[in-house]
Formats: sequence, structure tokens, C-alpha cells
Amino acid sequence: MKKSPVLITALLLVAAVAVAQTPDDAIYVGSDVCVDCHDDVSMIYDNTPHSVTNDFKVPGTDIGICEACHGPGSVHAEEEEENIYGIDYMASLDVAGKSALCMQCHTNRIANHQNDPHAEYVSCNNCHSDQAHYGGKASQADFRVAGQFCTVCHVEQLVEFSMPYRHRVLEGEIDCQDCHGLHGEELNTVDMTENICFNCHTEKSGPFIFEHEDVTSGECAECHNPHGSINDKLLTQDSNSLCIQCHYDTEVHFVQEKRCYECHNAVHGSNSDSSLRTR
Ligand code: HEC
Ligand code: HEC
Ligand code: HEC
Ligand code: HEC
Ligand code: HEC
Ligand code: HEC
Ligand code: HEC
Ligand code: HEC
Ligand code: HEC
Ligand code: HEC
Repeated sequence: MKKSPVLITALLLVAAVAVAQTPDDAIYVGSDVCVDCHDDVSMIYDNTPHSVTNDFKVPGTDIGICEACHGPGSVHAEEEEENIYGIDYMASLDVAGKSALCMQCHTNRIANHQNDPHAEYVSCNNCHSDQAHYGGKASQADFRVAGQFCTVCHVEQLVEFSMPYRHRVLEGEIDCQDCHGLHGEELNTVDMTENICFNCHTEKSGPFIFEHEDVTSGECAECHNPHGSINDKLLTQDSNSLCIQCHYDTEVHFVQEKRCYECHNAVHGSNSDSSLRTR
């Protein structure tokens, strides 16, 4: 059946009515008014910096925290009927729309949010369920224990951190945040030019008299899986192909029974031997 233009218009109107719900003449009345009837909601915020008692306002306005998201509430507060951006309206927002609610106040996030690999899929409240009374669907786990929290979604990494050789993230000894930023671009790739690994493995940063070119410049992930591995020392491969991927021209003195790094045991750099054989 072809839909008639009239029917489509009617459907659009219904959608518009279901979504746009604050009357034109509604004005902002302040969170204190909302709390009179919605103390169940405001109590959730009491345990966060967003508590109504802190009286945060959208910068440059007099709009308090409840109406920042729900719109001007004077008519609603009097009539106790919808007349407000309520559940249906909120459900019509996509991920970006949900994050935009937060960035009304957290304006310093707007710029770096654009380069955030999470922006398209994950909104602020998915992670900050403790700061948003409507919570997040992502995780019931304590969000400050990143190993538990981030791996609710990042299942592949959960597998890597469960491997026999691993950084002990799930055990809480180090965090995702020790290597990844949290918001924006920094989240994406760990900045290897200011090698993050050196924060903890300082002895690998040299300087060495005989550097192993690509190593000391910080390409740790050429040989190590930073999360976890089935191979000792988090190595990506348990064979000489680890070295041959770059040194394909040195097969001349290849010794079958030995690993390259049994002889070249100063693989990260040496102060005494140009062929990296002593540390
Ligand atoms: C950052 C945005 C945001 C802020 C701030 C906020 N809300 Fe909400 N609120 C929402 C969203 C989103 C929903 C929809 C919840 C859902 O999808 O179930 C909602 C739902 C509601 C509901 C209906 C469902 C329920 O939980 O009872 C009430 C009532 C409500 N909010 C009141 C308040 C009050 C009062 C405040 C201030 C103390 C407040 N909200 C602050 C975003 C916000
Ligand atoms: C005089 C009491 C009263 C005041 C004041 C009041 N509300 Fe409500 N509100 C209600 C009632 C009653 C409902 C419908 C039942 C319910 O969900 O609790 C409601 C529902 C809501 C809903 C959900 C609407 C939906 O989609 O179902 C939101 C959101 C909301 N109120 C926000 C606010 C905000 C924001 C303020 C402050 C500007 C406020 N309320 C002030 C009584 C009040
Ligand atoms: C009405 C303004 C306003 C809105 C809307 C708002 N915030 Fe905030 N928020 C603040 C202010 C002000 C602070 C305290 C100063 C700071 O940390 O930036 C704060 C603090 C925080 C903190 C720090 C918590 C801590 O323990 O230090 C987080 C996280 C946060 N907000 C997340 C969010 C998220 C997520 C949303 C949307 C769901 C949101 N905020 C919506 C104003 C707001
Ligand atoms: C992938 C999860 C995730 C997303 C998405 C996310 N955050 Fe965060 N955010 C965190 C974590 C984890 C912390 C650190 C919390 C701690 O250590 O207490 C944090 C810290 C914060 C803080 C307090 C510290 C600081 O850096 O100022 C604010 C404010 C904040 N986030 C706001 C936001 C806003 C606004 C958004 C959406 C634009 C957002 N966050 C999206 C995980 C996330
Ligand atoms: C609600 C689910 C969810 C949570 C919680 C979450 N992420 Fe993500 N994350 C995603 C999605 C979806 C993507 C984009 C798709 C992809 O690349 O996997 C993503 C992308 C990423 C990327 C970029 C991956 C790439 O290939 O470029 C990193 C890094 C990342 N997340 C780290 C984290 C960290 C660290 C935390 C905890 C602070 C976290 N995530 C929490 C869902 C989540
Ligand atoms: C020891 C530092 C370190 C820790 C801890 C860490 N990561 Fe990573 N992560 C990296 C590096 C380095 C890369 C880039 C790997 C590459 O370039 O091959 C990366 C890449 C990623 C990617 C992109 C896809 C991939 O596997 O290459 C995701 C997603 C990710 N990490 C999520 C997480 C999550 C979630 C946690 C915590 C549970 C975490 N990481 C903890 C260093 C770390
Ligand atoms: C926040 C500190 C921290 C950061 C950042 C960090 N590591 Fe680690 N790393 C550790 C700790 C702690 C261990 C475990 C040492 C142990 O158990 O003996 C470890 C173990 C290792 C091991 C195995 C050592 C062994 O003897 O089995 C390798 C390889 C390694 N890290 C490489 C890296 C690489 C590559 C990076 C950067 C992507 C990195 N680390 C970043 C703290 C860190
Ligand atoms: C060319 C491959 C290669 C690169 C690149 C590399 N490593 Fe390694 N790394 C190894 C090998 C092979 C071992 C095991 C050596 C052994 O068992 O003596 C190892 C062992 C380690 C260990 C544990 C043993 C020890 O010596 O403390 C740490 C920690 C480590 N590497 C950190 C790093 C960091 C940080 C980087 C980046 C700056 C890095 N590695 C880059 C090959 C590499
Ligand atoms: C990502 C590429 C890469 C990987 C992987 C790599 N190397 Fe290298 N290596 C280099 C580069 C580049 C140089 C310096 C230029 C040259 O001599 O070829 C170098 C230099 C060396 C030297 C010193 C040569 C000299 O006399 O200057 C030795 C020995 C060496 N590597 C051994 C190894 C061993 C053992 C492994 C495996 C654990 C390994 N390399 C893995 C890139 C790599
Ligand atoms: C039995 C010990 C031993 C093993 C195993 C070994 N090497 Fe060597 N390698 C040496 C010695 C000794 C030298 C120094 C030769 C010299 O100074 O003339 C050397 C020199 C090198 C050099 C620098 C000179 C050149 O030939 O380019 C590279 C690069 C190198 N080895 C890479 C490797 C790689 C890659 C492997 C594994 C496939 C490997 N080595 C396995 C002992 C070993």
C-alpha cells in the first residue's frame, strides 16, 4: 500500500506531538521546584557533584541542572502533566544527542569529543552512569575499576587480559587509563612518540650507546602485545620470525636451535656491544 501524503503528514504530526512537549510560554523555574515532587530523582544526584544543592547552572544562563535536560518546567510544575521533555523525548535522542545534554555544561569536552572514537557509539552516560540519574546500560560494575568496566564492552580485550602473560589489568594492578586517555583523541592510540611504556619501564628508554633503532624509538608493539599474549614476555610471536620480520637479510648466521634473542639478549639496547649481545 502506498502511503498518502496526508497519512504521512499525520504520522509526522503525531511524532512531533509526542516529542515536542514544552509549551512556548513555559519558563525556567529552577531545580528546587522539581525537587518538591521528584525527590526520588534528586536523591540519586545527592551522591554526586551534580547534587541539586550544588546549584550548577548551564554556563552563561540561569538554567539549573534538571531543566538543562528537561526544558523549562513552569507549566509542567503547575499542571503536573507532561508539558516537559520527558521519557519519550529522551528516547528519541541518539548517542550524540545524549552526549550533547552533558556538554551544555561540560563545554571543554566539545572539541575533543569530535575525535573521540567512542562518540559515535557510546554516550557520556553509558560510562558515567553514576553521574546521570537515568544511568547507563553498559555496566553495573564499579566504573572506576577500569578492567571490569571497560571490558564489559571490549570483550576482545577481556580475552587478551585473561591470557597467561598479561598486564594485570583485571586484577586491578594497572588500569586501561595508564596507557589510554579517557576522552577524545588520546583514547584511540597510545601515543608512542612520548612512549607511555617508559612511564613504568624506564630502563627501556635508554639512552644506550648502541640503540636498537626501531625499539628505542618506541615501537614496542612491534614485538609485544601490550595487553596480553600466550607467549612469555608478552611477545607477539614465539619464534625467530619476531626478528626476521625486519632482519630478513640476516638469515646467514641463523642458528636453528637458538632464539635470536638468546644471543642478542640486549635486544632493547646495549651500552657495551654493538651487536646487542650484552646488556
Ligand atoms: C543530563 C540530563 C538529565 C538531567 C541533568 C536530569 N535528567 Fe531527568 N531524565 C533524563 C533522561 C535521559 C531521562 C529518560 C530516562 C529513561 O530513558 O528512562 C530522564 C527521566 C526523568 C524522569 C522520568 C523517569 C524517572 O526516572 O522518574 C523524571 C521524573 C526526571 N527525569 C526528573 C529529573 C529531575 C527532577 C532532575 C533534576 C534533579 C533531572 N531529571 C535531571 C535526563 C536528565
Ligand atoms: C507539583 C509536582 C511536580 C512538580 C513541581 C514537578 N513535577 Fe515532574 N512530574 C510530576 C508528576 C505527577 C509526573 C507524572 C508521574 C511521574 O512520573 O512521577 C511528573 C513527570 C515528570 C517527568 C516524566 C514525564 C514523562 O515523560 O512521563 C519529567 C521528566 C519531570 N516530571 C520533570 C520535572 C522537572 C524537570 C521539574 C522541575 C522543573 C518537575 N518535573 C516538577 C509532578 C511534578
Ligand atoms: C547543569 C550543568 C551540568 C550538566 C547538565 C552536567 N554536568 Fe557534570 N558537572 C557539572 C559541574 C559544574 C561539575 C563540577 C566541576 C567539574 O568537575 O567540571 C560537574 C562534574 C562532573 C563530573 C566529575 C565527577 C567527579 O567525581 O569529579 C563528571 C564525571 C560529570 N560531571 C559528568 C557529567 C555527565 C556524564 C553529564 C550528562 C549525563 C553531566 N555531567 C551533565 C555540571 C553539569
Ligand atoms: C568510555 C567511557 C567514558 C565516556 C564515553 C566518557 N567518559 Fe568521562 N570519564 C571516564 C572515566 C573512566 C573517567 C575517570 C573517572 C575517575 O577516575 O574518577 C572520566 C572522567 C570524567 C570527568 C572528570 C575528570 C576530568 O577529566 O575532568 C568528567 C567531567 C567527564 N569524564 C565528563 C565526560 C563527558 C561530558 C562525557 C561525554 C562527552 C564523557 N565524560 C564520556 C569515562 C568515560
Ligand atoms: C558502552 C560500551 C563501551 C564502553 C563501556 C567502553 N567502550 Fe571503548 N569502544 C566502544 C565502541 C562501540 C567503540 C568503537 C568500535 C570499536 O573500535 O571497537 C570503542 C572504541 C574504543 C577504542 C578505539 C579502538 C580503535 O580500534 O580505535 C579504545 C582505545 C577504547 N574504546 C577504549 C576504552 C576504554 C579504555 C574504556 C574504559 C574507560 C572503554 N573503551 C569503555 C564501546 C565501549
Ligand atoms: C600497557 C598499556 C595498555 C593497557 C594497560 C591497555 N592498553 Fe589498550 N592498547 C595499548 C596499545 C599500545 C595499543 C595499540 C596497539 C597497537 O598499535 O598494535 C592498544 C590498543 C587498544 C585497542 C584497539 C584495538 C587493539 O587491540 O589494537 C582497544 C580497543 C584497547 N586498546 C582497549 C583497552 C582496554 C579496554 C583496556 C583496559 C581493559 C586497555 N586497552 C588497556 C596499550 C594498553
Ligand atoms: C602503569 C605501569 C605500566 C605501563 C604504562 C606499562 N607497563 Fe608493562 N608492566 C607493568 C607491570 C607492573 C608489569 C608486571 C611486572 C611483573 O609482574 O613482574 C609489566 C610487565 C610487562 C612485560 C612482561 C615483563 C615480564 O618480565 O614478564 C612486558 C613485556 C611489558 N610490561 C611491556 C610493556 C609495554 C610494551 C608497555 C607499553 C605499551 C607497557 N609495558 C606499559 C607496568 C606497566
Ligand atoms: C624487536 C623486538 C622488541 C621490541 C621492539 C621491544 N621489545 Fe621488549 N622484549 C623483546 C624480547 C625478545 C624480550 C625477551 C628478552 C628476554 O627474555 O631476555 C623482551 C622483554 C621485555 C621486557 C621484560 C624483560 C626485561 O628485559 O625487563 C620488558 C619490560 C620489555 N621487553 C619492554 C619493552 C618496551 C617498553 C619496549 C618499547 C620501548 C619494548 N620492550 C620493545 C623484544 C622487543
Ligand atoms: C621493527 C623492525 C625490527 C625488528 C622487529 C627487529 N629489529 Fe633489529 N634492528 C632494526 C633496525 C632498523 C636496526 C638498525 C639498522 C640495521 O642495522 O639493520 C636493527 C639493528 C639490530 C642489531 C644491530 C645490528 C648492528 O650491528 O647495527 C641487532 C643485533 C638486531 N637488530 C637484532 C634484532 C633481534 C635479535 C630482533 C628480534 C628480537 C630484532 N632485531 C628485531 C629493526 C628491527
Ligand atoms: C648463536 C648466537 C647468535 C644467534 C642465535 C643469532 N645471532 Fe645475530 N649475531 C651473533 C654475533 C656473534 C654477531 C656479531 C657478528 C660480528 O660482529 O661480526 C651477530 C650479528 C648480528 C647482526 C648485525 C650484523 C649483521 O649480520 O647484520 C644482526 C642484525 C643479527 N645478528 C641478527 C640476528 C637475528 C635476526 C637472529 C635470529 C634470526 C640472530 N642474529 C641470531 C650471534 C647470534
